[in-house]
Amino acid sequence: MRSPRPARLAAVALLLAALAAAAAAPAAAASRDGYGRARRLRMRGKVVEMFYHAYDNYMAYAFPHDELKPLTKGFTDSLSELGNLNLEHLPQDYNGSALTLVESLSSLVVLGNLTEFDRGVSWLSENLTFDVDARVNLFECNIRLLGGLISAHILAKDYSSQNKDGVYQNQLLHLAENLGSRFLPAFETPTGLPYAWINLKYGVMENETTETSTSGCGSLILEMGALSRLTGDPRYEAAALRALRKLWSMRSSLNLVGSTLDVLSGNWIEYSSGIGAGVDSFYEYLIKAYILFGSDEYWDMFHSAYLAVQKYFRHGPWYHEADIRTGEATHWQLTSLQAFWPGVQPDITRRCCCCKSVTS
Ligand SMILES: *[C@@H]1O[C@H](CO)[C@@H](O)[C@H](O)[C@H]1NC(C)=O
Ligand SMILES: *[C@@H]1O[C@H](CO)[C@@H](O)[C@H](O)[C@H]1NC(C)=O
Ligand SMILES: *[C@@H]1O[C@H](CO)[C@@H](O)[C@H](O)[C@H]1NC(C)=O
Ligand SMILES: *[C@@H]1O[C@H](CO)[C@@H](O)[C@H](O)[C@H]1NC(C)=O
Repeated sequence: MRSPRPARLAAVALLLAALAAAAAAPAAAASRDGYGRARRLRMRGKVVEMFYHAYDNYMAYAFPHDELKPLTKGFTDSLSELGNLNLEHLPQDYNGSALTLVESLSSLVVLGNLTEFDRGVSWLSENLTFDVDARVNLFECNIRLLGGLISAHILAKDYSSQNKDGVYQNQLLHLAENLGSRFLPAFETPTGLPYAWINLKYGVMENETTETSTSGCGSLILEMGALSRLTGDPRYEAAALRALRKLWSMRSSLNLVGSTLDVLSGNWIEYSSGIGAGVDSFYEYLIKAYILFGSDEYWDMFHSAYLAVQKYFRHGPWYHEADIRTGEATHWQLTSLQAFWPGVQPDITRRCCCCKSVTS
């Protein structure tokens, strides 16, 4: 394993902030896109107002549960429900993981509200525990809870290095490590492909389903890789990378991946696939892993996968689904989760600029 590269991690954590800044920035662009300075400031104010509307009401009515139900001012503990369409194995005793607070921490830093950020960090370090008998979706728990903790940790580090009186002492990283260690039993399969579901306290449950999605196996490397780089414990990155390599080895001769698979046999269950639900973030994580870790292996996978998508799924401006063995169209439907695709285009065209800025 290479040495940790906090600068590179911080660079990516701030990518979002940079995008927000770019949207608010140069006056020269005003004539081009019609957004003058006054309008930008008004829009920025609206975004801030909307954030606090959501955040304050969550804190008032739902915290420390996972999410606010805005119409009834109630709450839901969604971490155990996400991806669980049939609401099976719901825990009796789970009171939430303050999921919305965890997810809001980075926004608080971007908005400059460090007082509230510190308050959240203190609460989480004293009160959040993952030693709960709750069956959660590994993918959702990874992108929301582990990702939320890690990005907030990186931002907190950045800000506490400028602020000598800061109270931050890696509490969020300790939580992230505790959570990440609970993910590892999911990867103990003959293929290294992880189970879709894990019980945070007891590991993989008896008779757990062996069916999972391509996203479920291929969207772990950013968070688990970052966790390894930050803690020096290589197990997280190794588990996620092994799963990703296995998944890529299962691609068809057309360089396409299916949408669902069996983690014990490593065989595809569903051969019809596209860039939407079940697959979307597999592509997203390949390009982002290349930007974050700088390894050509991710770029090579992404590039081959991207070319195959353009060749077999694209029809004019639309993307349909196709059988990964033949490339024949299967479903002519547009779905919401495909909407991330335009966002990867600038990453591709800026490949060289990205390698430079994250390695410098
Ligand atoms: C959840 O809250 C209930 C009611 O306050 C409490 O009895 C229970 O012990 C809590 N569960 C956990 C895991 O702390
Ligand atoms: C930070 O957030 C809290 C909670 O919404 C709010 O009361 C406070 O005024 C905010 N501080 C700043 C500087 O915006
Ligand atoms: C932890 O939770 C308890 C019980 O709700 C609360 O009294 C305490 O202030 C919390 N700790 C922090 C640091 O906020
Ligand atoms: C697991 O499946 C076996 C065989 O179908 C069954 O006998 C057993 O009761 C199941 N265990 C649980 C915890 O559901």
